[in-house]
Amino acid sequence: MAIEIVADVTALASRATDLICAVAARKHQAVLGLPTGATPIPVYSELGRRVRDGICDLRGVSAFAVDEFLASAESPGTNAAFFETHLRVPLRALHLPEAAPSDPERHIAAFADEVRRAGGLDLCVLGIGTNGHIAFNEPGSERDSRARVVQLTLESRRAHASSFGALDAVPPRGLTLGIADLLESRAILMMASGAHKAEIVARAVESPQSSAVPASWLRDHGDITWLLDEAAAAMLTQH
Ligand code: PGA
Repeated sequence: MAIEIVADVTALASRATDLICAVAARKHQAVLGLPTGATPIPVYSELGRRVRDGICDLRGVSAFAVDEFLASAESPGTNAAFFETHLRVPLRALHLPEAAPSDPERHIAAFADEVRRAGGLDLCVLGIGTNGHIAFNEPGSERDSRARVVQLTLESRRAHASSFGALDAVPPRGLTLGIADLLESRAILMMASGAHKAEIVARAVESPQSSAVPASWLRDHGDITWLLDEAAAAMLTQH
């Protein structure tokens, strides 16, 4: 497990972009897993800048969103709407689970199959929720969990209230790749910034692994980089 600590959000966006562009440079048809949230917004904006400047080319890259709300497709808070707003770079393809599939369990299982058929994720980029979730794997998610429909915690729903307009408008359920699916990625980039992430980062990295902190399962992965800003790294005792 590599831990990289950078000064601030700007440095984090720059370093994360380096790592994403390096994968695309190494493998033209690379496959990425991509998250939503506040953390990746500066990363996607830096990616956009480098693509426009011609120093990063993602046109061969296929990307898979790691989760989606079970919501009406027109809802303003879906991850599809997020990517449309924030990830403004030409890709070969961006795949998302549908927000309103007729059979959600079957749909998300088929989505995970699609990831495997694409050859698996060369790099899965992830953020961590303040409750330790990764993608929509909320506390209680086991290491062997697979793609599935999940109940979202109040904490996660609160974090998305502004994009849906109100807490009541945030859907109670979501679709997510499971921990076991995420662990099948060839490499993982976990990003966290800000003092509000310091405690959960320390638990995920240094406390015994457990489903109480789903991100702790990622420590089993052989090629994971934790990319943290100083504020998010502040409670680590061994790094
Ligand atoms: P954030 O969310 O980037 O908005 O803090 C991270 C997450 O919940 O995965």
